Amino acid sequence: MQRIHLASDHAGFALKQELARRLATQGYDIVDDGTHDTQSCDYPVYAHKLCEAVAAEGSRGVLICGTGLGMSMAANRHTDIRAALCTTELHARMSRCHNNANVLCLGARVTGVELAFAIVDVFLATEFEGGRHQRRLDLLRLQA
Ligand code: RB5
Repeated sequence: MQRIHLASDHAGFALKQELARRLATQGYDIVDDGTHDTQSCDYPVYAHKLCEAVAAEGSRGVLICGTGLGMSMAANRHTDIRAALCTTELHARMSRCHNNANVLCLGARVTGVELAFAIVDVFLATEFEGGRHQRRLDLLRLQA
């Protein structure tokens, strides 16, 4: 069973809850890294919690805030996280094929619920192509 971590701030809470419900019915092993209500909170707290778990496990995650911007900024500070803010299914497919993204970021105030689910489905179903794309990912590492 594939493990998927989910986390959000208050702005992404409702979408996270619905996503958790749908993915659980599809048979995924869902880990909810918070937040657990709609009280105003700080998105980096949840981004860091999810990214540490995803990097340690080699699993995948979905981060949701109002725009997806703050979550993607926080997530991409983690060396082993490749977070992709996606607003289309094409973004989701290419983030996997070419960028081997392991975290998907969504903006709950930007992307409607049904499109968000379609984006998640593509993200979870698409494989990394490797080859020249792995060489480019290796180049993402900052030089000392
Ligand atoms: C919260 O109001 C909002 O700033 C947050 O959800 C996110 O969009 C930040 O990037």
